[in-house]
Amino acid sequence: MPEPARADLGALSDLCTPWCIHVVATLRIAEHIAAGKVEIGDIATAAGCDSDALHRVLGHLVGKGVFEETAPGQFALNDAARGLLDPGARLGLDLEGIGGRMAYAWGTLPNYVRTGAPAYHEHFGLPFWEDLDAHPAVAASFDALIGPAGHGAFNPDFQITGGWDPVRTIVDVGGGTGSMLAEILRTRPGVFGTLVDLPRTVARSGATFQAAGVAGRVTTVGQSFFDPLPAGRDIYLLRGVLNDWPDREATAILSRCAEAARPAGRVVVLKSVGPEDAPKNLEIEMVLLGGKHRTVAEFRELARQAALEVQAAGRQPLGYFVVESRPV
Ligand SMILES: C[S@@+](CC[C@H](N)C(=O)[O-])C[C@H]1O[C@@H](n2cnc3c(N)ncnc32)[C@H](O)[C@@H]1O
Repeated sequence: MPEPARADLGALSDLCTPWCIHVVATLRIAEHIAAGKVEIGDIATAAGCDSDALHRVLGHLVGKGVFEETAPGQFALNDAARGLLDPGARLGLDLEGIGGRMAYAWGTLPNYVRTGAPAYHEHFGLPFWEDLDAHPAVAASFDALIGPAGHGAFNPDFQITGGWDPVRTIVDVGGGTGSMLAEILRTRPGVFGTLVDLPRTVARSGATFQAAGVAGRVTTVGQSFFDPLPAGRDIYLLRGVLNDWPDREATAILSRCAEAARPAGRVVVLKSVGPEDAPKNLEIEMVLLGGKHRTVAEFRELARQAALEVQAAGRQPLGYFVVESRPV
């Protein structure tokens, strides 16, 4: 067997290219070129930046296969550069919004690794959620990134024990601007839903429910999920929420769900828990928030502390790894 090629540490640790990509996305360079600016001077004027510095950035990216230099100092889009026109890509890259929070947060990785706790506040002055509270435009870009603009269409297809027929009510806890709940209600006409998220985020949900034709079956509640939740519903959905939080906070969220679900409701977790043999990847939630994806065994222990018992856990044919728990 031939030996695998040795990884090139110099190339792997070179930060120049990622920063160039962030910079051109932030300055909307692809948009200016798409709008007809070709000469570097014209592009720089349109972007409000230094022409020589931009030329060097674009020259570097051309060497990496992003943009074309069709003649000295003249630039055009290629397929890779056209990817920068995608609004979802821009949300994740724009240094002025959540893209910048994620990019700079990697600079706090050394202290995250030293302590196991997020060091986001050391760079931004506040922990992640408080930083978003203090910067409404960044919070809006975060909400957009986790919604359809950033993450694409939401898949409402997951099964629960006994099927959906007996389910009348569902609470999407930390449900963002409502895209998942809207899809669940659109595909299950007998179900009524409640969206729980921070006030600024639920305030952005109206158009989503209207567009899905489900506004008449939805209630929105702007509150913290660390406070008591609307009680007595059939399903409490936590999709991509627990992986944002360290164990203590994740247990508190599960406790609020268990209290509200008692006696007959269920807590369903998506996109936060995986199988025992899942690879231990490094995830952006770790540096932003100290959260992590957990194995079923790790989740079971948090659930136990929250007075929940895991009833079913596994990968379903349509994609989700679903964990279902009941209050004990
Ligand atoms: C990673 S997003 C997941 C959103 C959605 N469930 C999904 O699957 O796309 C986490 C959500 O938790 C919300 N959140 C954060 N802290 C919260 C709190 N204390 N109370 C309620 N919601 C909170 C955020 O606003 C965000 O919408």
